[in-house]
This record gives sequence, C-alpha cells and structure tokens, in this order.
Amino acid sequence: MAMSDDTTNSLLTVGDYIRWAASSFEQAGLHYGHGTTNAIDEAAALVLGALKLPPDLHPAYFASRLTLAERKRLVAVITERIEQRRPVPYLLGEAWFCGLAFEVDERVLIPRSPLAELIEVGFAPWVDPESVQRVVDVGTGSGCIAVACALAFPQARVDALDIESAAVSLTAHNAARHGVAGQVYAQRSDLLEGLPEEPIIDLIVTNPPYVDARAMLALPPEYRHEPRNALAAGADGMDAMRRLLPQAARRLSTDGVLIGEVGHGAAALERAFPDLRITWVELEHGGAGVFVAEAAALRACFPEHTAETAN
Ligand SMILES: C[S@@+](CC[C@H](N)C(=O)[O-])C[C@H]1O[C@@H](n2cnc3c(N)ncnc32)[C@H](O)[C@@H]1O
Repeated sequence: MAMSDDTTNSLLTVGDYIRWAASSFEQAGLHYGHGTTNAIDEAAALVLGALKLPPDLHPAYFASRLTLAERKRLVAVITERIEQRRPVPYLLGEAWFCGLAFEVDERVLIPRSPLAELIEVGFAPWVDPESVQRVVDVGTGSGCIAVACALAFPQARVDALDIESAAVSLTAHNAARHGVAGQVYAQRSDLLEGLPEEPIIDLIVTNPPYVDARAMLALPPEYRHEPRNALAAGADGMDAMRRLLPQAARRLSTDGVLIGEVGHGAAALERAFPDLRITWVELEHGGAGVFVAEAAALRACFPEHTAETAN
C-alpha cells in the first residue's frame, strides 16, 4: 500500500481514518484475534489508540479534523498493521483486559484470556471470596490476570509467576500502574517450582502455553509476533499442564481450586488426564477450554505427588 500525500490530503477526520483503515484491513485479509473480531472494531481500536483517545469515544467526535502530523502518524501505523501484520496492542504498546489498560510489548502475550469473565465475578460459584488469602497466577505474561485478581480479591496476596524475566518486570510495572504493587509479587519461576512449599495456595489461576504442534504450524502471521514460549506446549499442547497439575495437587489448600484455560485443547486435556475429575465452565462472552479442578480431585489423580501434603 502506498503511503501517499493523496491519502493525508483526502482523509481529514477521525471517522475518515477508521473507515479507510477498515476497508484496507478487509482488502488485505488480516486476521483479527487480539482484542477485536472484525475490521471496523480493529480500525477503531488502532485509530483511537494512536490518537490517545478513549476506546469508547462518543461518535460525535468522529467528525473532528486531525492535524497533518496526526494524519501522517495514522497512515504509518495503519500501513504497519497491514504490511508487518503486527497486532494492534503491540503497535500501541497497550492492551485492555477486565476493563484495565496494560502495557505490553513483543516480550509478552497480548492479553485476551476468557478467564476475564470469571475474574469479574470473583470466580463465583467456584470460589468463596472471603476464604481466598493466597492466589497464584502461573504464566503471568503482562500480569493482566494477576493484577485483575488482586483487584477482585483485595485481601489476598497474589504471586505472579513466569519463566521469562521480561514478563516478570512488565508484570511489576503493570501492578504499580494499577496501584497493587504491594499485593502482587512478580517472580521468575518455572511453573510452581520457585515458590516455597508453604504457605499453601487457595486459588491457582493459569493459562500456560497450550498450543499443539500442528496448530503452531497453522498460526496466522499476527500470532508469530508473540513469544513462541507463550504459545507452544509440545505435540499435544499439554506439556506445561502435565508438569503443573501434579505440582498444584500438593500446593493447594483443602478447599483450594485450580482454574485453568486450555483453549481448543479440551479434548487433549481429557486424553492426557483421563482420571482427573474436572468441570468445564460455560463461558458467556466467548472463548473455550476453561476448567475447574478441585484440590481433592487433583490429589486423587496424583496421589504420589501429594503424600507429604500436610492439610
Ligand atoms: C499463554 S501465555 C499467558 C500470559 C498471560 N497469563 C495472559 O493471559 O496474557 C503463557 C505464559 O506462560 C509463560 N510460561 C511458559 N512456560 C512457563 C513455565 N515453565 N513456567 C512459568 N511460566 C511459563 C510464558 O512465558 C507466558 O507468559
């Protein structure tokens, strides 16, 4: 696509650029999956974000004229979205999750977990909010789940774990941004291995890598900007869960639960753990593969890992 004076001369308003971006995105056959599902929403997210305007800007402002510098900037980011297939949140350095803005860059996955809708209701009915003192987010990335959990359970300590140091530092930054730095402990850890044995955990929330080898080969170009280690999890996508679930069995409190996400990997999870009693959660806002595993079910499935569990 030619970035021409013609474009900046003929397109003048916020609405002009949203419309033009949407038409150009459709023509280029982009993939939408990082916060939007269609060209017009994608165009609005990019144009409004690049102009530092709120994502829910009143449409009356769409007729506002832009300066030449703003128009040139918009042509540049719209062109980059198309030519590089860079997802909008990386272009803007920001993604939204649970109504909160998180700083993101190519070192972390772009937040989009369907776990958001459960966090927003305090994981009801799976969790008694009063009893949650200790939450652990395994594979925290930008820290979006950990920060949202800290706000949902203000009395709880939240350990935000990731094997990547860059994710740990971005999580600390995002926790400070949302005023929960004193509650969210971002740490580098291989799954739960970096945590001390005590105290025990009331709630583990996790969306570790779960894309299988076949799906990795078929990923649209947009996803190739994300860290491979945040997505790929071996032949059947269950490599991380295979190690994590036995660890969780020994770390959860008696009434503790693990709430996990495996996306399209539901069948693979059931094949990998035929003896594990889990409940699949019906999601109202889209997405798939969210399950609840209670401590007792995990211990029954992995008795050899839980022999020393005290409580
Ligand atoms: C699917 S991403 C989820 C990121 C974040 N929770 C979100 O929803 O945006 C998986 C995360 O797990 C991390 N990860 C991969 N292997 C890990 C391991 N062995 N221990 C801890 N974290 C791991 C990756 O670095 C990545 O940040």
